[in-house]
Amino acid sequence: MKRIYLSPPHLDGRERELLIRALESNWITTLGPEVEGFEEDIAKKIGIKGAVALASGTAGLHLALYMLKVGSGDEVLCSDLTFAASANAIIYCGANPVFIDSDRETWNISPELLEEELKYCAKNGKLPKAIVVVDLYGQCADYDRIIGVCSQYEVPIVEDAAEALGSTYKGKFAGTFGEIGIFSFNGNKIITTSGGGMLVSDNENYINRARFLSQQARDPAPHYEHSQIGFNYRLSNLLAAVGRAQLERLEEKVTKRREINLFYRRALADLPGIEFMPEATYGKSNCWLTVILISPEKFGSDRETVRLALEAENIEARPVWKPMHMQPVFKKFRIRGGEVSEDLFSRGLCLPSGTQMIGEDLVRITGVIKKCYKLNKK
Ligand SMILES: Cc1ncc(COP(=O)(O)O)c(C=O)c1O
Repeated sequence: MKRIYLSPPHLDGRERELLIRALESNWITTLGPEVEGFEEDIAKKIGIKGAVALASGTAGLHLALYMLKVGSGDEVLCSDLTFAASANAIIYCGANPVFIDSDRETWNISPELLEEELKYCAKNGKLPKAIVVVDLYGQCADYDRIIGVCSQYEVPIVEDAAEALGSTYKGKFAGTFGEIGIFSFNGNKIITTSGGGMLVSDNENYINRARFLSQQARDPAPHYEHSQIGFNYRLSNLLAAVGRAQLERLEEKVTKRREINLFYRRALADLPGIEFMPEATYGKSNCWLTVILISPEKFGSDRETVRLALEAENIEARPVWKPMHMQPVFKKFRIRGGEVSEDLFSRGLCLPSGTQMIGEDLVRITGVIKKCYKLNKK
């Protein structure tokens, strides 16, 4: 039986054509017309002033915090329920993350807990240097409320929209809500360049500085002159060509992921003990991954039993991100709340959501889940 992966790359457009064009142009380096074109395409698509193509989303997070002058001993608030890259970038800067639990309604950072934490920080006379807000599984966080509290305390937002390209919040695209936003084009994302990322901002100073820092901070001179430390974080021109072809089909990919999500919702609607990640009414998620919660007392089996039953049928499913405060490497850092993300981790399962799946694949996947329920009811 063919393996169904969680979210594999899907090259269904002009990738080959644009890649060959890039090869033939001989711009086989980290600059060139495809890099510039990809940056313009992304900025235009999401309605932002500037974009800088990078080797990864993680590089984008690192540069964003670095440009916000996050340094040794600073604190940076961070969504607790996320992939480790969001928090790793804080550590690269020598700072300490403070994790904030999720809101049950959106699974994103809780605006109430965020406000509590900022009040606490202000009372202690040490405000965080920045906050990393994650748009989880493609759903935007509640930006009106988050921006409201953060601007009151003048804490800049870095939007980790790694998973959320094409999603919207009140009609505005993900990635545009912070001082700086980032996307990932890692192999499992809604569009991919195999590995890659983008830093975006409406502030041209950040765009110019990110471009400068990501190219080893070369000062303008005919020889190699450096007055600052830089990074080698640029995206290859060949990969940018792949990204441009992928981006041309973003709308179709969002539509397909939303259809997959709807199929699962309908197919599993009658099963007791299954809930879906709620979609907030304030926006439209790209449904990067469809995620369910399994309550063992009602469903009869737990998340892990269902995951293993899928695996036995050659279907890849993954537990929800393990919260940062539960990770051995981040245990010593502060957490505000934590019960919601722990619960989502213990019951949450990400289902295959790749855009090349066909109806048969979805029937196969939902069939296994239904069988897990029936077996327990015998
Ligand atoms: C929420 C989140 N942040 C950051 C990243 C890091 O992106 P990259 O793998 O491109 O470095 C990812 C995905 O990989 C992610 O899911």
